[in-house]
Amino acid sequence: MKALILVGGFGTRLRPLTLSVPKPLVEFANKPMILHQIEALKAIGVTEVVLAINYQPEVMLNFLKEYEAKLGIKITCSQETEPLGTAGPLALARDKLIDDSGEPFFVLNSDVISEYPLAEMIKFHKTHGGEASIMVTKVDEPSKYGVVVMEEETGKVEKFVEKPKIFVGNKINAGIYLLNPSVLDRIELRPTSIEKEIFPKIAAEKKLYAMVLPGFWMDIGQPRDYITGLRLYLNSLRKNSPSRLATGAHIVGNVLVHESAMIGEGCLIGPDVAIGPGCIVEAGVRLSRCTVMRGVRIKKHACISNSIIGWHSTVGQWARVENMTILGEDVHLCDEIYSNGGVVLPHKEIKSSILKPEIVM
Ligand code: GDD
Ligand code: MG
Repeated sequence: MKALILVGGFGTRLRPLTLSVPKPLVEFANKPMILHQIEALKAIGVTEVVLAINYQPEVMLNFLKEYEAKLGIKITCSQETEPLGTAGPLALARDKLIDDSGEPFFVLNSDVISEYPLAEMIKFHKTHGGEASIMVTKVDEPSKYGVVVMEEETGKVEKFVEKPKIFVGNKINAGIYLLNPSVLDRIELRPTSIEKEIFPKIAAEKKLYAMVLPGFWMDIGQPRDYITGLRLYLNSLRKNSPSRLATGAHIVGNVLVHESAMIGEGCLIGPDVAIGPGCIVEAGVRLSRCTVMRGVRIKKHACISNSIIGWHSTVGQWARVENMTILGEDVHLCDEIYSNGGVVLPHKEIKSSILKPEIVM
């Protein structure tokens, strides 16, 4: 079986992290986002993953080469010379996606995280006999997604409306599809949107089916959602593989600490924290609802909440970092600095406090 991951885009909403690496390579819970997906695909028998990409393919391929061997899965690129949207890339990769087997293939948005119930999806696809299956999930704020109106019993999709201005329903497209090869006959090789142009047509012909995704789901392409996504992900780890979570008197709730990270005396860490490889967390530090990427040093008595600390940055003693502060790669926050929602571009030294949410260039 094959799969295509829509990698495209510049990941602008996840800047400044995406100034250092393409969005799919940004770590989520100590693992690049795209690896969560590739591992899930491999687990249900996918043998080849095509990355549909229009930006820095060398970076992606170089990074993933190692995992091709490690995971035993073929990873190739299909590169666009202009952004082809969410459907155009399927037409471009047509020859890679179809073979004699006539099997359906998976398509994934690269920024969604879930338990990837892909085996269940294959079963669902086989039973309904339609042309395409999509995974849907309920959200509180459907207007920023593709909304799906479906028959509860059968899952038959009645309507697909991308980013509706008025309320149509609260079940939304989770960005995980299983498509018959015939769907490719509906897509022209030009910039085109699967959500706006293809799904509404298949739905009108009553050949589009939706399955409600069991478990959690989040689009982690924006900082706030990334942090919420980490909470949901760690919660699911607690249920499914609790031994991977940190334990001890200094840990509160669900916390992931890489084995090579060092935690000092008298820290209080959690809930909902991920600490990456090689990090040094000095004594008396308080961390909650945050991600600390590879190689970060957090000095004594710093306090960090609801924030992301980019690779190889340092946070000074008695610093206080909160409210969706995002430090890019190699940022140095001096001692006693306060950051209230600062978004700091890579390689900066911050010597005065950031009192309100703003971008520091
Ligand atoms: N190759 C390629 N080329 N990929 C692209 C392009 C392109 O021109 N444009 C976007 N993508 C990729 C993105 O990288 C992402 O993985 C996926 O297509 C969806 O694009 P987003 O920009 O993240 O869209 P969205 O989050 O606003 O909406 C989409 O996802 C929602 C779920 O998170 C839609 O599919 C919605 O219907 C859906 O609800
Ligand atoms: Mg998205």
